[in-house]
Amino acid sequence: EKGGYDYFMLKEIAEQPKAVADTLLGRIDANGSLTLDEVRIGAAELREVDKVVIVACGTAFHAGLIAKYAIEHWTRIPCEVELASEFRYRDPILDSRSLVIAISQSGETMDTLMALRHAREQGSKVLAICNTNGSTIPRESDAVLYTHAGPEVAVASTKAFLTQLVACYLVALYLAQVRGTKWGDEVSAVIRDLSHISGEVERVLETMEPVRALARSLADKRTVLFLGRHVGYPVALEGALKLKELAYMHAEGFAAGELKHGPIALIEEDLPVVVVVPSPRGRSVLYDKIVSNIQEIRARGARTIVIAEEGDEQVVPYADHLIRIPATPTLLQPLVSTVPLQVFACELATARGNEVDQPRNLAKSVTVE
Ligand code: M6R
Repeated sequence: EKGGYDYFMLKEIAEQPKAVADTLLGRIDANGSLTLDEVRIGAAELREVDKVVIVACGTAFHAGLIAKYAIEHWTRIPCEVELASEFRYRDPILDSRSLVIAISQSGETMDTLMALRHAREQGSKVLAICNTNGSTIPRESDAVLYTHAGPEVAVASTKAFLTQLVACYLVALYLAQVRGTKWGDEVSAVIRDLSHISGEVERVLETMEPVRALARSLADKRTVLFLGRHVGYPVALEGALKLKELAYMHAEGFAAGELKHGPIALIEEDLPVVVVVPSPRGRSVLYDKIVSNIQEIRARGARTIVIAEEGDEQVVPYADHLIRIPATPTLLQPLVSTVPLQVFACELATARGNEVDQPRNLAKSVTVE
């Protein structure tokens, strides 16, 4: 059942190109427009939406954080992302024009379920993004967009995360399409890029051997830090979460712009710091900032592990270890930049003798508070 792999997690990492392709299947038509028939919230209603609120836990929350960048950029609708466990216990400002998106692989996470009930009580429409047919969260939502990752057995989420991202992009692009935003051309270009993205995920998987070797060489470290900006920031959070749950190491993700506001004090000789670098094309200001963040931490002795696009030569002198990913549009980069972090955490867990598929103290689906 593990299909020749030692762990379900390895199998599920390898299944990601297919999971991504399956989640896109039938949702982009021949003219390059989106058909999300399952989203039973009508176009008229979607045009009225004046606020999007995303609720989720853990890895699904990280997918939501990335979705915010895409939704606000492509639709110009304000979007908030909140941990379901926080949202359900406060007094959020919601009404019938708010669209609440609940993201959950299992569809059974108690906090996410309670958050969506909380939203519906206030008259908001709830759209679930879920991987499990007929589970409680989609059943209690107004509409559902299923991710087609197939069953995810390993406790650490991998393929479900990538497909959650795809589903979030589809929702963002669909909202943009229905509302006809001024980003029309960009939206069509991104839809084209999305339809090829599973091949790029495949290419990343083919180049993971050096990442595994690097992970093994770090097996006796106590701490690893992760830095990113823009959509690279939630990717950093996700990389740190994977490492905590699998390798039982102290790992933290930071927004690189926050370094000087505290975290830089943690930097010491030989501390491994993973940095997710955005594309040098497009948002050049952001790119320059992160290159100078890398220089700053390296000057203080950090061992820099840099994830950067193919063809990005400027980072080379500052990278103690360089992990290449294919060039993608900025907002789609998490689909390729997350993969090396999953492989890294899985290999570190193995090197430390940990149980990869069933980490200590964790359950696949958290159905209690
Ligand atoms: O089933 P859900 O997507 O609602 O689960 C949410 C989190 O419990 C889950 O993503 C958790 O953080 C994973 N173990 C992370 O790898």
